[in-house]
Amino acid sequence: LDPTFLFKDLNSDGRPSKLPNFNIRLSETEQQTGLINLKNRKKLWTRVWGYGNKTVSWPGQTIQVVSSSAGGADETIVRWRNELLSRQHLLPLDTNLHWCYSLHGEHSANGVDYRNFSIKENGVPISTHLHGGNSDFQFDGNPEFFYSPYAKVTGPQWDFVDGGFTDRFRYNNDVPANHLWYHDHALGITRLNVYAGLAGQYFVRDEFDTGQANNPLNLPAYPYELAYLIQDRMFTETGALFYPAFPGDPAYADFITGEGAILPPELFPNGGPTALAEFFGDHIVVNGKIWPKANVEPRHYRMRLVNGCDSRFMVLQFVAVAPQVTDPKHSSAGAPLPFWVIGSDQGLGTPRQTDTLVFEPGGRYDVVIDFSQVPAGSRVIMKNLGGDTPFGGTFGDDLAPEDLFDDRQTDRVMAFDVVKPKSGVPDNFNPGSLPSYAGVSGGASTRRVALFEGMDQFGRLQPLLGTVKDGNLNTTNVATAYAWFQSTTETPAADSTEIWEIYNFTADAHPIHLHLVNFEILDRQVFEYQVTGSQMTHQHDGMTGEAPEISFVKKFSPAPVGPEYFEAAPRDMVMALPGNPEPESGNPTGQMVRIKAHFNKSGQYVWHCHILSHEDHEMMRIFQVV
Ligand code: C2O
Ligand code: CU
Repeated sequence: LDPTFLFKDLNSDGRPSKLPNFNIRLSETEQQTGLINLKNRKKLWTRVWGYGNKTVSWPGQTIQVVSSSAGGADETIVRWRNELLSRQHLLPLDTNLHWCYSLHGEHSANGVDYRNFSIKENGVPISTHLHGGNSDFQFDGNPEFFYSPYAKVTGPQWDFVDGGFTDRFRYNNDVPANHLWYHDHALGITRLNVYAGLAGQYFVRDEFDTGQANNPLNLPAYPYELAYLIQDRMFTETGALFYPAFPGDPAYADFITGEGAILPPELFPNGGPTALAEFFGDHIVVNGKIWPKANVEPRHYRMRLVNGCDSRFMVLQFVAVAPQVTDPKHSSAGAPLPFWVIGSDQGLGTPRQTDTLVFEPGGRYDVVIDFSQVPAGSRVIMKNLGGDTPFGGTFGDDLAPEDLFDDRQTDRVMAFDVVKPKSGVPDNFNPGSLPSYAGVSGGASTRRVALFEGMDQFGRLQPLLGTVKDGNLNTTNVATAYAWFQSTTETPAADSTEIWEIYNFTADAHPIHLHLVNFEILDRQVFEYQVTGSQMTHQHDGMTGEAPEISFVKKFSPAPVGPEYFEAAPRDMVMALPGNPEPESGNPTGQMVRIKAHFNKSGQYVWHCHILSHEDHEMMRIFQVV
């Protein structure tokens, strides 16, 4: 199947809409992903949740707007109409996690006890986040700004908004050309709502990156610009989305605790379903199609890529295979082709050539590849070297080996057949003429935050965020872990610039996302620490969990390592890489990454790990710009 060239549904010539108003419904639908019933060769239908206007789809309708700097409106207004009246979630809930309909009266602004509501009676709560948007806080898709169909139930935070609830969200267009995406963010069910299909792409164009032929930067434009939302999924025999939910679900027992243990059902007072530590699907889906193929011309193509997976870090390469080779077992032939990375989450960056790209969940990359470097008739496969385990790698040589893919075929993403004749449209991409990334300017104060691996009230592995004491790090108990609803500890001043040092005490890489801002990735540094005991963490419902108590020994590798070749661009995602928390000898090590951001709007925002299973399980915190 050819994945839809998403720009096509905007205008026949790919031009962005001049109208800054969109009316988008969220509802259930059925679509074909490419699965067939092997007995009767009939195409199977998959029930999904989508966004759209007349018809909804997974992924949702692509939105493309013009920056106000290039004559567009000051704001885009999207009315997000929740019509998800389904009486049960498409996927199994874990009501042991805190989630929209578990909030107590005493924790909410309006005194409403959300435990009186249910999906059966009230429909599915949603909260739409424009990921990467510089949005006012009430339009930011904060998890507690949820609402049920027709807004019969609205989340507690709406009570803090002048004028109260609205489903007409206003987005700032006074930003440079970028590649945002929108997805659901409702409390404790984000991973499920996104898995069901609630994600789509959002592009801002400006006077340089116009998205049209003859743009001043000579970037490939429609139909030579492609937009791909890459996700992983599992399916049942009948074509339904499958999401493992019970201890002992095939292939997933190991992931319940991360240690192969199956938790006894008595542990779960609210009933069986349990969230996974991570989720890795066995099918790669691009724009809603499984392992699709596109026919291309021998010329430069620009690809706008989103990693929309729950947990999967991808390591992308483009590899040519001989003409006519259709057996996928032969897909690994050939050396990876060079390509250009010209930008990332929030727009163009310093262009760099590479043949391998590490791609974190939540991130976006803007790449240009020349299909004329392979013989006509070739098939080029977009491959994935990343495996089915949490990514613990560095960017170096030790990337994949221990994570190597198995027979699930998640080692390939999609195919490009170079079979179309080259059109007369000029093909003059020139990376040398692109601007380089200037970074975030100005003085900044430093804030220290931390990533922990702890345990929840049931003994399940639980990732957490926290803070690190300012000042002298050579003391015991320097880092404190917090759960979602504990008081806010991150309070940047409005219009301030801050450097955040993110200390990773866990064994895995976590893709960290800050709402509101774009940031510069400055550097990374390895440090040594000791675990001196454990600290209590306060979960919802008065339950307690545990996280390690940390003391610093000293920092080493005095020279911090600068950002990677593909990170020289305005970002809203950063990979917090791990050190080695369990070395054979010596002290455990962690890794700290530094980012620099300007906080230009006040209000309540969130920062979190973009592994959706982590974010739903307490790896998310408020930051309040004051
Ligand atoms: Cu893409 Cu807060 O998320
Ligand atoms: Cu994480």
